[in-house]
Amino acid sequence: MTESQYAQVAQDSADVVIIGAGPAGLVLGNLLQRAGIDCVVLERAASAHIRHRARAGYLAAHTVRVLERHGLDEGIRLRGQEHSVCEFRTGAGRFRLDYRHLGRGETHTVHPQHELVSDLLACFVAAGGRVRFGTEAVAVRDADSPAPSVTVREGDGRPARWRARYVAACDGRHGVGRRSLPPGAVRRHRRDHGVTWLGLLAEAPPSLDAVGYAVHPHGFAGHMARSAEITRYYLQCARGTLAEEWSDERIWDELALRMRASEYGPLVRGRVVQRAVVDLESDVLEPLRYGSLFLVGDAAGLISPSAAKGANLAVLEAEILARALTDALTRHDLEPLARYSERCLEHIWRAQEFSHWMIRLLHGTRDPGKSSHFQERLRRSRMASLRDSRTHQDWFAENYVGV
Ligand code: APR
Repeated sequence: MTESQYAQVAQDSADVVIIGAGPAGLVLGNLLQRAGIDCVVLERAASAHIRHRARAGYLAAHTVRVLERHGLDEGIRLRGQEHSVCEFRTGAGRFRLDYRHLGRGETHTVHPQHELVSDLLACFVAAGGRVRFGTEAVAVRDADSPAPSVTVREGDGRPARWRARYVAACDGRHGVGRRSLPPGAVRRHRRDHGVTWLGLLAEAPPSLDAVGYAVHPHGFAGHMARSAEITRYYLQCARGTLAEEWSDERIWDELALRMRASEYGPLVRGRVVQRAVVDLESDVLEPLRYGSLFLVGDAAGLISPSAAKGANLAVLEAEILARALTDALTRHDLEPLARYSERCLEHIWRAQEFSHWMIRLLHGTRDPGKSSHFQERLRRSRMASLRDSRTHQDWFAENYVGV
């Protein structure tokens, strides 16, 4: 549609238009709402979809503090499970790290992300927050001006337009926020880690009382509790693998083999209810701002799932932006907004570095079975250092739980 055509469509406005109702968008919306800032969340999916979409689930101590600080932690207090143990299984044996007693002594809280999103949505609406489901943002216009707008396609297909003072793209790595950036506005730093995982959700209780990381000649396998009934597993697989090539039986047999179930105890099997192949890659945009448009969460940068950082970075960035927008809109102090990108990138790169280290700790080579001997020996040495050095364990704990 042309500018003049959009001039005819339904108009609405908010001081801050937030695109996306994931962890980033809903934390930002709640914090702005509490600060009395006029904002709206535009979400293309239906409410039921985002409230049942199984995603991450390991909340860092900082994330819990942010939610506690703003009274958004009721669900976590009632249902969150504290977690603090990793178990590493390799050909040289197994060892456990209880990071409650390492580093800063911080622990994770296991709280399935769809429950966190449901909690955040309920808080936002209860506080009078405006959210429009089934509303897909099509483009961010005039982002380099003090009067940006977001053109949308509403549930019935009708075009509409939201005028704003600021726009927060919390719409993920494929969202319209990134797509609306003009060429050359930001630099994209990208890395393909050369590793592919078959991500699984099983209707089965956890088989370990720890996050399990297994390294085997066949490749990596991972075990992460999601709830008392659901467990997340990962199997490293060759690039180009099709999820449907893996039957439930083949999945459980391979998990048992790689996690050395014959030595350390059987896995509790169940129906595999979700399987998806994911190539581990990361990217970071710099800067995280273009005029009145700000990038938050996965829209700002994608991090591999190897260290469960994605949702935690999203919450951290949302709090930094909420404070900066509040300063700008209530006290006309533009300095925090000017520093938003620099402040977030410092945390993003620290998390990227640790996530990359984890990938190299758990995967000797690009494709399981193809051994690059030198890389494999480096990997074993990293694992031995983590097993034997308290200093290394403190560094691991600080970065594993920290954001
Ligand atoms: N218009 C409106 N909504 C959109 C659009 C669009 N054009 N594009 C995407 N969305 C919505 C998606 O439907 C989704 O609900 O934006 C939301 C983005 O949410 P997430 O993908 O969860 O991203 P974010 O909030 O940044 O959270 C990042 O959470 O999902 C976990 O670990 C994962 O790292 C990830 C982290």
